[in-house]
Amino acid sequence: MIDQMYRKAVLTVAGQKAIENAVRARGWGMAQRFVAGETPQTAIQAVHDLKKDGIMANLDLLGEFIESPAQCTQFADNVITMLDAAHAAGITPYVSIKLSSVGQGKTVDGEDLGLTNARRIIRRAKEYGGFVCLDMEDHPRVDQTLVQFRTLHGEFGGQHVGTVLQSYLYRTEKDRASLDDLSPNLRIVKGAYLEPETVAYPQKADVDAAYRRLVYAHMSAGNYVNVATHDESIIHDVQMYALAHGVSKDAFEFQMLYGIRRDLQRNLAAAGYRVRAYIPYGRDWYPYFSRRIAETPRNAMFVLRGMLKG
Ligand code: FDA
Repeated sequence: MIDQMYRKAVLTVAGQKAIENAVRARGWGMAQRFVAGETPQTAIQAVHDLKKDGIMANLDLLGEFIESPAQCTQFADNVITMLDAAHAAGITPYVSIKLSSVGQGKTVDGEDLGLTNARRIIRRAKEYGGFVCLDMEDHPRVDQTLVQFRTLHGEFGGQHVGTVLQSYLYRTEKDRASLDDLSPNLRIVKGAYLEPETVAYPQKADVDAAYRRLVYAHMSAGNYVNVATHDESIIHDVQMYALAHGVSKDAFEFQMLYGIRRDLQRNLAAAGYRVRAYIPYGRDWYPYFSRRIAETPRNAMFVLRGMLKG
């Protein structure tokens, strides 16, 4: 409950234009703990740096409030440019995209623009042996995202496209089971949006319990799982579950956000677990940054200290 109140308060404050302007005016220096940089090159540098610690990368071009079809297509072009840059730098690209950013919900030439642009992105990623994860957004988008995931999975194969399920939604365990016929590569998260009690568990304990159930169910169905959390108790329980059920260390991976629990990321990699950091980059970093602050007061303190230092 307190978590929800904190998150709501921060997201409400962060949504005020005056606050956004004040934060942006400080330059992007405050965000650099959580965002790799503003260009593909800075993100690629971060990939190389993490590799030294045995940590894999997931590149994410930020940009959430892209309105017109032309902007969506331009955004998809920018993702493709990033795939090209990663390939040229010797990296097998692994990227995440938000379907809303590439036009989901906008019909152009009789087809959903999000699907058209996602196709272009995945086609290029596949050429490079890469992978595209379709991020999950707020609950009104879940149905369409799952339908489009199924379509893209059919066209490009599970080696090249995956998606995300959020444990805070009541519906998610059914959604997971309904995808079993695809043996999909799924990222399991708790969920980052402010959702009403009509669709999402209000209590954190319920979200955490559902998280464990989802990971265990997906593992025991023999599927590859991306365990995307910083929750040490869940990470420990997943390690124990895998050991007890003979799930090998290459049948799943831990995923965490860039700049968060770097110690834990390194320790897990050193212990032989697959670890991937989600590396956001791009000029449109403010909404992403606000959500990270809303997740824990510790991050808000980190930023406040930075502001006070001037
Ligand atoms: P929880 O919030 O319960 O935190 C557990 C502990 O982890 C905390 O006590 C704290 O110590 C630490 N912690 C958590 N967040 C922290 C932070 N920001 N800074 C410092 N410490 C922190 N969501 C979504 O809706 N759609 C998506 O597609 C994705 N994709 C995604 C990819 C990856 C790789 C990750 C890690 C997360 C996402 N998320 C997401 C976000 C996710 O839904 C969730 O909001 C955050 O991961 C925070 O939840 P935790 O699971 O870490 O646990």
